[in-house]
Amino acid sequence: MQQPAPQIPVNQSIILAPFQPEDKAALIRYLNDPVLYANTLKVPSPYTAIDADEWLVRVEAEKDAPGGIANWSIRHHEHGLIGGIGCFLKTGLEGHLDEIGYWLAEPFRGKGIMTEVVQRYTQWLFEHRPHLVRIEAGVFAHNPASERVLEKAGFQREGYLRKIHLKNGVYLDGVMMACIRC
Ligand SMILES: CC(C)(COP(=O)(O)OP(=O)(O)OC[C@H]1O[C@@H](n2cnc3c(N)ncnc32)[C@H](O)[C@@H]1OP(=O)(O)O)[C@@H](O)C(=O)NCCC(=O)NCCS
Repeated sequence: MQQPAPQIPVNQSIILAPFQPEDKAALIRYLNDPVLYANTLKVPSPYTAIDADEWLVRVEAEKDAPGGIANWSIRHHEHGLIGGIGCFLKTGLEGHLDEIGYWLAEPFRGKGIMTEVVQRYTQWLFEHRPHLVRIEAGVFAHNPASERVLEKAGFQREGYLRKIHLKNGVYLDGVMMACIRC
């Protein structure tokens, strides 16, 4: 019998669930966003149909991988895909820690959504990965909204990392935020 797709409920309107092939159009629409590009490290610009196809192949393969799903879509009950959140599923000597990353589509920002998603996802990671004691998130220093989201979700600022990233030939400062298992 086919198992139901896994999901992580966040609130009455939002769940985290696996990405689906039907998400392609929304990925292309939402990830072609200069603000999102400026605040993330790995999202290409422009974000093309090929980028979306490659992403969907990668997340499909994750569903049966030993570590399970590392990348979850954020889905709204009316609007469908509105963002993404994920971790690296680190193992071995790094199995006690992991790093999260996330994005939210422009029309849905500033409503407290990502704070709730990060809170719930962090809680879920600690519940489902008993060895995990530390979850961290690196934020560009020019992204105070993301730092604030993490702070509201229980992360603490641990350090200011000068010229930690090199993006498009420019060195960028970063902020290290982390949450330790209570
Ligand atoms: C950053 C991002 C995830 C925030 O999601 P969101 O759902 O809009 O965040 P929330 O509404 O939960 O909270 C945002 C908080 O940041 C604050 N904020 C927004 N702009 C800010 C600014 N320029 N300076 C300081 N705080 C700011 C808001 O006031 C709010 O805090 P408050 O509730 O104390 O008032 C979203 O804007 C996004 O996806 N941006 C593009 C991609 C990105 O930055 N990803 C994260 C990479 S680390």
